[in-house]
Amino acid sequence: MRNSGPMLILSLLLGFWVGANEAQMSYDYYKTSCPNAEEIVQRELIGIFLVDATAPAAFLRLLFHDCQVQGCDASILLDAYGSRTESEMKSYRNFAVRKREAVEQIKSALEAECPGQVSCADIIAMAARESVSFSGGPRIGIPLGRKDSRTCSLQRADAYLPSPSISVDGFLQTFNSKGMSLEESVAILGAHTLGVGHCLNIVKRLYDPSPADRMDYTFRAQLRLSCPTTVPLENVTFVSNDITPVIFDNQYFVELLMGRGLFQIDASLASDPRTLPIVRNFAADQSYFYRTFSSAFVKLSSTNVLSSARGEVRRQCSRAN
Ligand code: HEM
Ligand SMILES: *[C@@H]1O[C@H](CO)[C@@H](O)[C@H](O)[C@H]1NC(C)=O
Repeated sequence: MRNSGPMLILSLLLGFWVGANEAQMSYDYYKTSCPNAEEIVQRELIGIFLVDATAPAAFLRLLFHDCQVQGCDASILLDAYGSRTESEMKSYRNFAVRKREAVEQIKSALEAECPGQVSCADIIAMAARESVSFSGGPRIGIPLGRKDSRTCSLQRADAYLPSPSISVDGFLQTFNSKGMSLEESVAILGAHTLGVGHCLNIVKRLYDPSPADRMDYTFRAQLRLSCPTTVPLENVTFVSNDITPVIFDNQYFVELLMGRGLFQIDASLASDPRTLPIVRNFAADQSYFYRTFSSAFVKLSSTNVLSSARGEVRRQCSRAN
């Protein structure tokens, strides 16, 4: 109750901000063209979540990896066809990205009800949004009306998807370019409250840490048990991002303060003087984290949205019409 006033004002402001975009998105975009769109997406997702408790983490990461390359245009879902293009999934940075086929399943359900209306980019955004609330996080209102790209780019995926050892400067620049404040940038990385990381992405920190790396001693010992070799012998072992990997809470920030951040960039947020006070505030006040994450999420999911002139509504998410 306490939060409904500020939330309302926030959504009005965001509505305004999104309205200023070139592409016309709105909160009731499918009101006439596909009135049950959101219910259909929710219904399909419940089935997916019930058989795979790790699916919400996958959908949330999928949104970031879609929006980070050419904008939120479902370019990550395009398969290679002919000799014209290579899938973004070939990028090393898309290692272990999952649930693309689940988006296709949701798309089929929507095509059965209202053919050619709901974009794959909107499905990715809705799936990520539902993943957050299903995991106990905030319920976030997002505008809809994204269009799907006709192209994808492996080169852009390689260039724009960040490395786990990106600097804090590079990290802040990445999210600042999406209109996020310092607080929102720290909040959006709180998405790492869900899911896992593979040894591949942490062995550097475990066996060849930078002198400034202040990883907790027992945490490092635990991780070395899970990832015993400097070059992983296989790619199946993974460790949780935080101790509650299926719950969207502020535990991630609590653990950052204990030196238990999994990736280099996670850990750096707790040592950089710009981000440390914000990490402390989120660790102390979950509802403040939720509010800030919500506005950051709307900005992330509105990155470089295509207008109808430049994009389309794909009939099948894995290929352009
Ligand atoms: C500088 C920014 C970021 C970097 C460097 C980064 C890096 C990573 C890495 C290396 C992994 C582990 C992949 C693996 O080994 O399986 C990961 C997982 C994940 N990331 Fe990020 N990430 C960033 C931002 C984000 C953002 C903005 C979101 C969402 C809003 C996000 C959501 C996730 C989720 C949910 C997982 C777990 C996926 C799963 O369990 O399948 N990340 N991230
Ligand atoms: C693990 O995956 C990475 C990235 O795709 C690849 O470079 C590496 O060769 C794989 N390692 C093994 C042992 O399969």
